[in-house]
Amino acid sequence: MKGAGVWIWGLLWCVVGVAALSRSVDGFDDLSAKESLLSLLETDDTSPSPANQLMVPLTLIHGAAAKGAVCLDGTPPGYHLHRGSGSVLLLFQANQLNFRGQRIWSAAMEELMAQGMKNAEQALLSGCSAGGLASILHCDEFGDLFPKTTKVKCLSDAGMFLDAIDVGGGRTLRNMFNGVVKLQGVAKNLPNTCTSQMDPTSCFFPQNLVANIKTPMFLLNAAYDVWQIHQSLAPSTADPHGYWKDCKENHAQCNASQIQFLQDFRDQMLNAINVFSKSEQNGLFINSCFAHCQSEKQDTWFANDSPVIAEKAIAVSVGDWFLDRTTVKAVDCAYPCDKSCHDLVFK
Ligand SMILES: *[C@@H]1O[C@H](CO)[C@@H](O)[C@H](O)[C@H]1NC(C)=O
Repeated sequence: MKGAGVWIWGLLWCVVGVAALSRSVDGFDDLSAKESLLSLLETDDTSPSPANQLMVPLTLIHGAAAKGAVCLDGTPPGYHLHRGSGSVLLLFQANQLNFRGQRIWSAAMEELMAQGMKNAEQALLSGCSAGGLASILHCDEFGDLFPKTTKVKCLSDAGMFLDAIDVGGGRTLRNMFNGVVKLQGVAKNLPNTCTSQMDPTSCFFPQNLVANIKTPMFLLNAAYDVWQIHQSLAPSTADPHGYWKDCKENHAQCNASQIQFLQDFRDQMLNAINVFSKSEQNGLFINSCFAHCQSEKQDTWFANDSPVIAEKAIAVSVGDWFLDRTTVKAVDCAYPCDKSCHDLVFK
């Protein structure tokens, strides 16, 4: 990879929108962390990158509005593109479940391909949270844009949203996804390997998609995904008496039955990736941490004390997988065994 030249770096985003996903726990806007991914993959070594921050201007997709590809607030979508030669790293920046997004996606891809992305030797589609889900949903479509000779892979960070039963016995996230699927008419854009078997809302859940993705994919996720604990498992609507309030703020305050509930969630996560994990080309890093989005900040991505599984940091694991150095199937033992976590604590 040395000498492959500067990476092209595209970052697709909507400026504002309905924040269906909580912003507070997401590490958005952290450009330097992306730089370290670039630097890691580009230099093919594991040394921390110098903090040479690069300012990349925002490009609005001019043709987008005409094609109806607008963000929820009516503004055109944009992307950051750092041009170079050789490789592409495309990051979804999504702080919303905006899957009217198909038009945005198509318009952006058209423009990025025209700008030279079609000549990339290597391309990685990546995103965190809603962007992580988007990179699962669009992975094969992204792969199909390139000739067979291009190395194309996808990384989903914190995108493994599970169709789980909440603490009140309901299905909070399924109801939310149902609304997104109906409102934004995404059904026709979901992979038909799934929609031919199941209802569209089920096909919005990665657990019903990942086993059938043809393009090599890496799933990075905390087993105790904090966004899901807050918004899907124990939102206040499912916990009207606030029994989960303290536990949500700090996992150290969870009692034994709450921990058991969370262990069960981890088991569901591991079940959901079981078939996916059997494919040699796929990668995994499921750590037993209370986190959400671990690829976007230097402290969780690659630092002296960043989270590890078997002494390997996330950046090294993703790098090994992307560059075909080794297969990576890193799954941690259950809480509280991992002492390297950067757990999110809200109080
Ligand atoms: C844990 O807390 C919940 C909610 O307050 C309670 O219903 C449950 O009995 C507690 N479990 C234990 C083992 O203390």
